[in-house]
Amino acid sequence: MPSAARVFSVLLTLFLSVHVYGLSLESRKDGGGGSGIPTVANNKNPVCKPWYAIRDAIMGGLFHGRCGDLARASVRLAFHDAGTFSLALQAAGKPNGAADGSLLVDPNEVLRTDNNGLQNIVAALLPLPGQFNVTPGDVLHLAGVLGVLACPGGPVVKTYVGRSPPKNIAPDGLLPNPNSPVSVLTARFADMGFSIRELMALIGAHTTGKQRFVSSSVAGSSFDTTVDIWDVRFYRETQSNANATGTFKLNSDVKFSHDSSTSKDYNRFVGKQDNWGQEYSAAHEKMSLLGYNKNSLTDCSEILPQSIDLKNLATGNGNSGPGNSNNVDPTIDPTKLEAAIEQQRSIWLN
Ligand code: HEM
Ligand SMILES: *[C@@H]1O[C@H](CO)[C@@H](O)[C@H](O)[C@H]1NC(C)=O
Repeated sequence: MPSAARVFSVLLTLFLSVHVYGLSLESRKDGGGGSGIPTVANNKNPVCKPWYAIRDAIMGGLFHGRCGDLARASVRLAFHDAGTFSLALQAAGKPNGAADGSLLVDPNEVLRTDNNGLQNIVAALLPLPGQFNVTPGDVLHLAGVLGVLACPGGPVVKTYVGRSPPKNIAPDGLLPNPNSPVSVLTARFADMGFSIRELMALIGAHTTGKQRFVSSSVAGSSFDTTVDIWDVRFYRETQSNANATGTFKLNSDVKFSHDSSTSKDYNRFVGKQDNWGQEYSAAHEKMSLLGYNKNSLTDCSEILPQSIDLKNLATGNGNSGPGNSNNVDPTIDPTKLEAAIEQQRSIWLN
């Protein structure tokens, strides 16, 4: 739709929302209209009220409503913050990692080799806890959830606030190395509290990933051919013997797709968009809470938008035409995708 017509239709929707349904509008987002973005006017839990503005600062201000570099880095950042948690360290009463935002607090943590590539997102998020008077863990893990939702097809992951500030810099040497054996990697995730099935769901986040430091000669190559969407193509392509042009496979991901200890759970997600969305969402939620007790936090999922729905963007000729089950690996129509991305971007940049 030409932009003047689009603006007109948005205004018309707003007008109808206010006058027909009597909604009160407080912010620039249209709670009753076409954008599907909840507004502060519809706030339910008062604890969540300030989080609408923080959401806008991240999704609009930083991500520009797009599955771009900062959105993708936020998803990896959420893992690198929480992935230093260790049940063994907890049992020993030693300084532990947690989903505590320590990467936004101690400047030395982001300088570790493990965290190469996360400097830009850390610098971008750094002012927010002070600006909004909230904790770094809450900001960092909201950014991780919004990073998923910025990507077309990304599932909603429940989001919580109320994390206490970090007690210490995260212990070093706990993040996984892509060249470690499968048994070492699954043991490390077990020490975070994750089953192999949950790990297989989590590594699907590489669907929107690029590598810059594993093989610097092909820096910027992506982990699948559809890096701008949150789809299950990553699972299929990583498992395949073929190497698609422009992509790069981490040794760990390739081994997960074939190893007898992991392939059964890996295969749950090959071609299964809905299964993966559900299991990824639950595993990411768990990751965002490592080291904290969910019952002492507040569920602020009411602030979350929906991501662009891939179902509406599938080409008609695949196994996944619009209206059919989404539990497939849909082929996306690039023109429809571009239009949906542009619409989402313009809503967040309003
Ligand atoms: C065995 C476990 C894992 C290993 C060995 C691993 C390793 C890596 C490596 C080496 C990179 C490329 C870094 C670079 O060169 O720039 C990467 C990127 C990424 N990882 Fe992982 N990862 C693992 C699990 C996870 C998990 C659990 C998540 C999130 C749930 C995640 C999310 C990401 C994302 C989103 C990127 C792309 C970042 C970007 O494009 O800027 N990874 N990972
Ligand atoms: C794909 O790349 C891997 C790793 O570089 C290589 O071992 C394999 O032979 C390649 N496969 C094909 C079909 O070219």
